[in-house]
Amino acid sequence: MKNTVLTFKQAKAQGKKLSMLTAYDYSMAKIIDESGIHGILIGDSLGMVIQGEEDTLSVTVDEIIYHTKAVKRGAKNALIVSDMPFLSYHTSIENAIYNAGRMVKEGGAHAVKLEGGANVLAQVRGIVAAQIPVMGHLGLTPQSVNAFGGFKVQGKSEEAAKQLIADAVALEEAGAFAIVLEGIPAKVAELITKKVSIPTIGIGAGKECDGQILVYQDMLGMFDNFVPKFVKQYANLGNTMKEAIGMYIHEVDKGDFPEEKHTFKIDDEQLKKLY
Ligand code: KIV
Repeated sequence: MKNTVLTFKQAKAQGKKLSMLTAYDYSMAKIIDESGIHGILIGDSLGMVIQGEEDTLSVTVDEIIYHTKAVKRGAKNALIVSDMPFLSYHTSIENAIYNAGRMVKEGGAHAVKLEGGANVLAQVRGIVAAQIPVMGHLGLTPQSVNAFGGFKVQGKSEEAAKQLIADAVALEEAGAFAIVLEGIPAKVAELITKKVSIPTIGIGAGKECDGQILVYQDMLGMFDNFVPKFVKQYANLGNTMKEAIGMYIHEVDKGDFPEEKHTFKIDDEQLKKLY
């Protein structure tokens, strides 16, 4: 079944949980989509898990578009959400609309996601007015890593939690269709989830959110530089892959691969002429 922003809206109304994962390429998007996921995020997390950077700040609009195109070809049913990278929506409303528009027009995204609350409301309104659905993102927003002094859990004081609640309400009023809540206390996420009528998608925000999102390399055990507390590893594909690659290297070394069944033939008549 095709997932749209209406699927997200209805899920909240019906108390049905939403599941999302990140993806950055065709093959993985196809597997994730065929598994029945509701939404795929082409996250700027690609800066870390694809490019090996220490944070997400260097990711560009062109890179997100490149990966969105690949994901779009593989995912037939999931809602495709493209992340707006750092500085692609901060400088002006026009710039934000233009970059969001490129993600839809060139990448094929159904929606965009951007980080922030009160500071980005004008951008959210502008993008929504351009008929592009916007997913908000509050809490431990990775693009604020330098302002936060590291990847630190947010919303732990009364003041900070109140600000998050106010930001979530304001994002809904500005027209966002969903909000990612990242790295905040579960009780604060629960309060926000009850307060807004759009779905909250949690990552490190407890189980009372309307849905969950994870980076696929984290949940499949393919990225072990740093495993955050909120990640559950559903598999250890990193080890499985190393074992398989080790077997391949061993068989190549021994001359056991390729076998007869992996090779192509030429007619003897043709072959004779080559000698
Ligand atoms: O970039 C990303 O992958 C994200 C999710 C972790 C929410 O923003």
